[in-house]
Amino acid sequence: MNAYKKILAGRMLLLAGMSAMALPSFGWGQKGHDTTAEIAERHLTEATAKAVGELLDGKSIVYWANWLDNASHTPEYAYTKTWHYKNIDEGIAFDDAPLLDTGDVVRAIPEQVKVLEDPRATREQKQLALKVLVHLLGDIHQPMHLGHASDRGANQVSVKFFDRNTNLHSVWDSSVPESGHKWSYTEWADQIDRATPEETAMILQGGPADWGKETFDICTEVYRKTPDGTKISYDYIAEWTPTVERQFLKGGLRLADLLNTIFDGDYRSARGAAAK
Ligand code: ADE
Ligand code: ZN
Repeated sequence: MNAYKKILAGRMLLLAGMSAMALPSFGWGQKGHDTTAEIAERHLTEATAKAVGELLDGKSIVYWANWLDNASHTPEYAYTKTWHYKNIDEGIAFDDAPLLDTGDVVRAIPEQVKVLEDPRATREQKQLALKVLVHLLGDIHQPMHLGHASDRGANQVSVKFFDRNTNLHSVWDSSVPESGHKWSYTEWADQIDRATPEETAMILQGGPADWGKETFDICTEVYRKTPDGTKISYDYIAEWTPTVERQFLKGGLRLADLLNTIFDGDYRSARGAAAK
């Protein structure tokens, strides 16, 4: 082996080692967050779109959809680390799960809404709340974000995705969505943003606690069907891709409804009289 080949082989080994390292992940991969925000954007009223555009200095909610996954790893925003998920251990009812002092996705969502509605909040506070809110509407719909504390939301459930050793959390963040369809986020939105008005009204019912509970039910079924050591293959992707599609859609429609309610005084939510 000549010197050049040796360096190349060393680099390849290093890269392989890095990709096998179990980095705990923080939510849908980029496709899930971008698609959720793109669908939401398509459902903003004119007044909401204007207000949101002003608050984000002309950038879109899609632009910021992934930002929190990086930010939470920096000292400045480390306080948001636990906002991406809520853990409920096996055998515990959703409402009985112990609460973290540092917050969780179910409580962080209404907290951001409160900041955005607060006339005393500064523009900077509102800008941050909006970026956080856009991200968390994705995360609350990722089933493994309502997973067990004991295995860190299935980050410690080892599975094989075809020939690759990985974990169940990561499979749900990105492997299943990316294998289900080889689409861009706008193509995802084109294909799944097709709910009837009746379906939309159903999806918009309830609030973050109900949405979290609904995702938790899916999560429970995923754990049941994917025990440690499962070899995931084509049949698993076929079985769960419709769920991924539905979860992206729900996130997008619910995000749009929250933003329209916050920013457009004339907006009448399809949730009906229950919505403010
Ligand atoms: N991401 C990192 N830690 C997590 C946990 N405990 N549950 C869900 N998602 C996570
Ligand atoms: Zn996240």
